[in-house]
Amino acid sequence: MKVSVLALWSAAAALLLVAQAPSAAEASHHGGAGLKLGYYKKTCPGVENVVKYHVAKAIKANRGAGAALVRLIFHDCFVRGCDASVLLDPTPANPETEKTAPINIGLAAFEVIDEIKAALEERCPGTVSCADIVVYAARDASSLLSNGHVHFAAPAGRLDGVVSRAADAQRDLPDSTFTVSELIRNFRRKNFTVEELVILSGAHAVGVGHCSSFRARLSAPPAQIVPAYRNLLSGKCAAAAGGADDPVVANNVRDEDPRAVAAAFPSFLGKLRKARDFLDNSYYHNNLARIVTFNSDWQLLTEKEALGHVKEYAENGTLWDEDFSDALLKLSRLPMPPHSKGEIRKTCRWVNHH
Ligand code: HEM
Repeated sequence: MKVSVLALWSAAAALLLVAQAPSAAEASHHGGAGLKLGYYKKTCPGVENVVKYHVAKAIKANRGAGAALVRLIFHDCFVRGCDASVLLDPTPANPETEKTAPINIGLAAFEVIDEIKAALEERCPGTVSCADIVVYAARDASSLLSNGHVHFAAPAGRLDGVVSRAADAQRDLPDSTFTVSELIRNFRRKNFTVEELVILSGAHAVGVGHCSSFRARLSAPPAQIVPAYRNLLSGKCAAAAGGADDPVVANNVRDEDPRAVAAAFPSFLGKLRKARDFLDNSYYHNNLARIVTFNSDWQLLTEKEALGHVKEYAENGTLWDEDFSDALLKLSRLPMPPHSKGEIRKTCRWVNHH
């Protein structure tokens, strides 16, 4: 059979087109450098107001949702960059997504993200990525929990990833049992300094933790944890209805239940605050006083440079507000691995069908 060169060429070109027209775009150019302020100005005007409205509503109902959103940006961006890979639910095809990893214990506020996504799909279908929603929501949550002291303009234009593996989360996220050297190494791998490790750890001024996340602290010596605070934690863990997996213990002792504090740690009663989950530099004061929840928090006192920064931020709350804003912005710029595929998901919990 005689086939013309032209026919061959067009067949080859068609094949090439098929090969080059993936249903998910290549996302490498959407890394930190390609992000833009007001990215959705033309395609989805008002997007940031919509996000803020829903975050404010969620926080009004429960300030803990704000803490969860601040943790979510960290757990998304440290694993394959900010690509919403942490939001993907397990499926029969991929039963072990990031959110099933033990290191992601207690991650929450997924329904807040769902609500925002649904509102945005109605307003401008197929336009706003879940990855950008995670960043906007964390930005707004940190701003609301700090009464506006933490604030930054968030560039956007991220794509949603199609890969999510529990093993990646387990490998890339720091564990509360880490030593300070392990924490420093973990942050350095993502190009974050010792100072930024200390700055970002200040997020532990808000939120809750499971007893299983600080079990070793319950038998740590007084040089590491004030015995009265240790007793308070032990008592709460023993009483937790759901056992050690009950997330009943506030990370920040300043938000503890007054009755429990009165019983186990009366000297702290005067320091309890009225508004739970207020995002400020109180973490550093508590850390220097040996009343923080996680081993990884206390570890920051055991290395010279890190300790210097803990003291610096204990003394200067305004500086921490600014530096925390900058560090969150830097976190939000972590790109997907080169040549990753990206898309705008229809639903944040599942990749699109291709
Ligand atoms: C430095 C290494 C870090 C370690 C080892 C660590 C570890 C943990 C652990 C074990 C929990 C409790 C999880 C649970 O039991 O439910 C937690 C909670 C939390 N973490 Fe971290 N974390 C680190 C850094 C960060 C960073 C960088 C941020 C954000 C910028 C952050 C924000 C939070 C928040 C807000 C909570 C409370 C979440 C909630 O109440 O829903 N953490 N962290």
